[in-house]
Amino acid sequence: MIQNLKGAVPRRFYSVIWFVGLVVVAFFFLSGKDHDWSSISSTESWNVPFMADDGLLGSVMGYFGEHPDEGEPTRIAVVNSIGVHDEVLAALVHAFGGHPNAKMNVYLHSQRYKMNDIISNFTLAANTTMKNIKAFRPAMFRNPHPHVVVSTTCEFDLGITKGALQNLLDNGNTHLFCVVHHADQWASGKHVDFARQWVNKGKLDFVGLSQHTADFLMNTTVPKWGTKQNITARVFPPVFPVERPEVDTDGDISLAMQGDYSSSRRDYKHIFTELAGVVDKVKNTPGPQENETVALHVIGHGKTPEVPDITKDHVIFDKSLSYPDFYAVLSRAFAVIPGFASDEYLDRKASSTVPAALIAGAPLLASEEILKAYSYLPREAAWVSIPGEEDMDAIKRVISNRDEYLKKRELTRLAADNIMEQNRLNVQGWIREVRQKMDAERAARQQKKIEEGKTNEESAPEETIPEQSVPEESIPEQSAAEENVSKA
Ligand SMILES: *[C@@H]1O[C@H](CO)[C@@H](O)[C@H](O)[C@H]1NC(C)=O
Ligand SMILES: *[C@@H]1O[C@H](CO)[C@@H](O)[C@H](O)[C@H]1NC(C)=O
Ligand SMILES: *[C@@H]1O[C@H](CO)[C@@H](O)[C@H](O)[C@H]1NC(C)=O
Ligand SMILES: *[C@@H]1O[C@H](CO)[C@@H](O)[C@H](O)[C@H]1NC(C)=O
Ligand SMILES: *[C@@H]1O[C@H](CO)[C@@H](O)[C@H](O)[C@H]1NC(C)=O
Ligand SMILES: *[C@@H]1O[C@H](CO)[C@@H](O)[C@H](O)[C@H]1NC(C)=O
Repeated sequence: MIQNLKGAVPRRFYSVIWFVGLVVVAFFFLSGKDHDWSSISSTESWNVPFMADDGLLGSVMGYFGEHPDEGEPTRIAVVNSIGVHDEVLAALVHAFGGHPNAKMNVYLHSQRYKMNDIISNFTLAANTTMKNIKAFRPAMFRNPHPHVVVSTTCEFDLGITKGALQNLLDNGNTHLFCVVHHADQWASGKHVDFARQWVNKGKLDFVGLSQHTADFLMNTTVPKWGTKQNITARVFPPVFPVERPEVDTDGDISLAMQGDYSSSRRDYKHIFTELAGVVDKVKNTPGPQENETVALHVIGHGKTPEVPDITKDHVIFDKSLSYPDFYAVLSRAFAVIPGFASDEYLDRKASSTVPAALIAGAPLLASEEILKAYSYLPREAAWVSIPGEEDMDAIKRVISNRDEYLKKRELTRLAADNIMEQNRLNVQGWIREVRQKMDAERAARQQKKIEEGKTNEESAPEETIPEQSVPEESIPEQSAAEENVSKA
């Protein structure tokens, strides 16, 4: 790559390029899981590691160019219009709020299950204010507009905040990061029509919560739009920090799974029966754990399934936990069992269990399929099942290995820390790209004006609709269907 560039750049840049090359190589080795973090574009070889739209060199040069904590602070608005996906909101607040030179407003419908206790403990470099979602619309009709709007659930937010977003789109001073939860639901519909208006102006980046959902969106859904598109999709594993208890070496052995108790997909009876084998294995393996008991924590909601007598004392239903309690239960788990309610979590949807295990710092029991889809989860940090092996058989195989558990638990926490740090760096990179693009557009507009013989004003005045003329926009109450957004 460096060879190819030789003809294109003046001689004095060789040393800079070699230096950048070395940094890139170092970066590759240090980051390990390179391609998970690349931004992807449908018009280019977007699955190549680190090939963003402006290329490897461009983004690295940019990194050494304008520093993100210089210049006009970036105005960020994070929107969560219906009060679901609290975990994704928390992760976005943590990552975007890590920007060293930004002012961030977070517009919320509500925060459920004490997520606010977790968010208010974040250390954020950006000046951050939490506001009610009702304040979003008037704010978007005021100057100055945010440079960046982050939609937590783009499928819903586009509809509910459309009037305000339309104003931003018309003014052209704002870039939208659109977090996609159902990568298969972006082929058509009102939200897609509106998103495409943003895409056509080059003002929208999709954000997938795992590489596999970003892939599905770009490979399977967007091609249904019919025309060739120049789209950027980013990857953002939704991980954020919580209080995690210290390693507890002589506690009982805890397993955890989360999900809807009434799920027809899950054969709870079978899982609970097979748990007996795990209990026996622990009892019959000499060693420090021989007198410990096994507890399977089933975290969920709804009517609890029946437990057979043989494991009655080993199944605990944790109902309606707050988020802090939820992560506390998970954090003590020897293994978090994913039990996906559908195979869609391996291609078009991103499970919340995988990030939850990382957030809590407990190793996930992962199949090869899960490791492939959730490529941000390092293999060493997970209990990997053998192809064809049932969950409880895999647990039985590994349960006596406490040293391995402590190692994996440590690696899980390390992986989570790395993801959080990388998320913040990535977000700063995305913002830098967006702002450079906006600056270039503004300069081009100004140049055009000068050529047309108009006055060379400092910058184009932004159109604003006076605040009092803002039409009312009702925020619908959260519907029952949305409240029951299933966890998987
Ligand atoms: C954040 O707030 C502090 C105190 O109000 C202020 O000094 C600082 O300039 C602000 N920073 C940004 C980036 O707005
Ligand atoms: C927030 O931080 C305080 C001080 O470290 C801690 O005591 C508290 O448990 C934390 N709350 C949550 C929900 O993590
Ligand atoms: C998506 O398309 C790219 C490029 O065509 C390919 O390399 C990748 O394997 C595809 N991913 C999936 C999940 O189909
Ligand atoms: C795609 O968009 C990027 C950034 O928005 C731009 O730099 C690039 O030239 C575009 N590519 C095509 C083929 O339009
Ligand atoms: C387990 O319990 C038995 C009987 O009380 C005792 O003899 C044994 O030392 C215990 N093992 C451990 C590792 O504590
Ligand atoms: C949501 O769950 C509640 C109880 O958990 C139930 O009564 C209600 O019917 C569910 N709504 C939908 C739309 O599934």
